[in-house]
Amino acid sequence: MRIEPATRLSGELSVPGDKSISHRYALFGAMAEGQTAISNFSSSADCHSTLHCIEELGVQVNVKGSSVTIQSPGWQGLRAPSRQLDAGNSGTTIRMLSALLAAQPFETVIAGDASLNRRPMERIVTPLTRMGASIETAEGGLPPLKIRGGGLHGIRYDLPVASAQVKSCVLLAGLMAEGETTVVERIQTRDHTERALPIFGAPFRQNGTDLSVKGPSRLTGATVRVVGDVSSAIFFVVAALLVRDSSIMLQGIGANPSRTGLLELLLESGANIHRLETTVASGEPVSDLRVSYDPGLLARFPNVVEGDVIPNLIDEIPILAVLGTQLEQGLAVRDASELRKKESDRIHSVVSNLRNLGVMVEEFQDGFRIPGKQKIRGGQVKTYGDHRIAMAFAVAGLISEEGVSLDDPDCAAVSFPAFYKCLDSLHH
Ligand code: S3P
Repeated sequence: MRIEPATRLSGELSVPGDKSISHRYALFGAMAEGQTAISNFSSSADCHSTLHCIEELGVQVNVKGSSVTIQSPGWQGLRAPSRQLDAGNSGTTIRMLSALLAAQPFETVIAGDASLNRRPMERIVTPLTRMGASIETAEGGLPPLKIRGGGLHGIRYDLPVASAQVKSCVLLAGLMAEGETTVVERIQTRDHTERALPIFGAPFRQNGTDLSVKGPSRLTGATVRVVGDVSSAIFFVVAALLVRDSSIMLQGIGANPSRTGLLELLLESGANIHRLETTVASGEPVSDLRVSYDPGLLARFPNVVEGDVIPNLIDEIPILAVLGTQLEQGLAVRDASELRKKESDRIHSVVSNLRNLGVMVEEFQDGFRIPGKQKIRGGQVKTYGDHRIAMAFAVAGLISEEGVSLDDPDCAAVSFPAFYKCLDSLHH
């Protein structure tokens, strides 16, 4: 696919429901007794992987467009799947669903595609094993995971890595375990699990960095609405800021501060972004965004992004790198070694693609540095099958001199199947 340099972006757009939140509502719906009705469910392939997996466990799932209805006997009534569960490309599916499997008195095997099967699982195997589950992995702590569960007991667990997937996995297992489970979270990661659990009737308490649940707990079905995915919207935000004369409106975008690290940095830099009135849907803040071309931003945006903000913008770093190429004083991203464990090694994917497009960049183990303002010549982009690399470099194509070619544009469907259609709709 070719992405040509753009002259102007304009129009209104909404993006699919948030991927992280959709996973959670689907999983909590599977754990809860009775009916759960979810509107604006994510169209992402990842969230549909979660739906397929819970169906294999005997949960009824009905999908009509973005409306999903789930009917479940609750976590104590699930049945053993007749085959190995397939989490596809989705880390959130395998890591959170493993908690549910760890509480079952039967054996389940779960794995994913080639990319997921290279991603580390010891981060959830360690706490789940301490809680009483028995889990076998492939060599090096990789999937497939063979999980035999049941008889879990609560633990206190100090998160060794800032990961919302690990936090959520331990809290979910805690709901199905005997006694209290506390996760100690010293660096805040996305808190969608904490916001959603009470809606499903699960007792959750927070005391400073201690996040606690008590089990065994009964969850009840709920009616919930998913806010628009800020991690999908951000590609258009950055595109509109960088493409001359652009002005776009993004509707219904999630505004949870544990997710909006990049948006906040832009707002603090006085970017031409107006956040319209914030409302709340199912405990999650949501707002419309008006974004216009802002060349002055390039002298005002910070030139170093590091430290505790990293987890709040971890999925936005590929598009942040594209913005970084345009900054007057360049950009360094540090403390982001977790990026090497995502759908691809995103430090390598970003650095090698920037170089392919004629941009100078220095690679570090935990990030990269792009020296001052550079032209993006254009050329070939290798997506590494990684959705966020495809979308970030499509935006790079818009501001390039010669355009870019993406080797595997379709991988965008992992989070945002209509991405290119939405982008086209902004060209007039
Ligand atoms: C997610 C958490 C993050 C993020 C991923 C989704 C979640 O991963 O990168 O896209 O839904 O909890 P980690 O928890 O591994 O940091």
